[in-house]
Amino acid sequence: MRKKLIAGNWKMNMTPSEGIALIGTLKDLVKNDEVDVCYCVPAIDIVPAVEATKGTNVAIGAQNLYFEEKGAYTGEISASMLVDAGVKYVIMGHSERRGYFFETNEDINKKAKKALEHGLTPIMCCGESLEQRQQGLTISWIREQIKVGFEGISAEDAVKIVIAYEPIWAIGTGVTATSEQAEEVCADIRKYLAELYDAKTADTIRILYGGSMNAANAAELLAMADIDGGLIGGASLKTDFGKIVNYNK
Ligand code: PGA
Repeated sequence: MRKKLIAGNWKMNMTPSEGIALIGTLKDLVKNDEVDVCYCVPAIDIVPAVEATKGTNVAIGAQNLYFEEKGAYTGEISASMLVDAGVKYVIMGHSERRGYFFETNEDINKKAKKALEHGLTPIMCCGESLEQRQQGLTISWIREQIKVGFEGISAEDAVKIVIAYEPIWAIGTGVTATSEQAEEVCADIRKYLAELYDAKTADTIRILYGGSMNAANAAELLAMADIDGGLIGGASLKTDFGKIVNYNK
């Protein structure tokens, strides 16, 4: 049985002091032993967020890392820095980073390998644009993102990766994919992972849905067979996040 993961993606929101206040507000609302919970916070919020979540059920994630070990890469953050700060998860390949910062599937593959080498759990994002969906290219596009993203990664490491399927047209728009649309793609990702690896590996990997998930639609999306959690942007900054974490109560 795959344990559900509810991951908040704060994006470029919350100063360190605002972040600590939000963690305090959510503390009792996000208690649920049946799901894993994490907040993927801006880099500067990581250290205080790790401190503020100590002794709670919430883990802290980063929103990016660089694939080199260390050195002259001004402005970048390494896997060892994240680990030393107490980070458990790291998002890579979010469509905003692909779009605004030109991250490629190859970069994401290198980031996943570096994260795994250091014991971090990658949250690898994939997703199609509205044009691609309308042209019937969704499945082939997502398969390409998964293929390159997982290239050269053993089955033993692949099971440690979390995939987040986030249709670009659903992110921050208030337009959620229907549970059938989300399940169709998540089920195909699992089918494709079984082709790349084997059925057992595919059955172990957690696949999240992201894109305007909120307190009202979470339970329906999370009831789908191949949706193992959510990556939540806007609603992770509000008390609604507690309702999403407790979607099963
Ligand atoms: P949203 O963002 O929940 O605000 O749509 C999701 C994401 O981009 O991870």
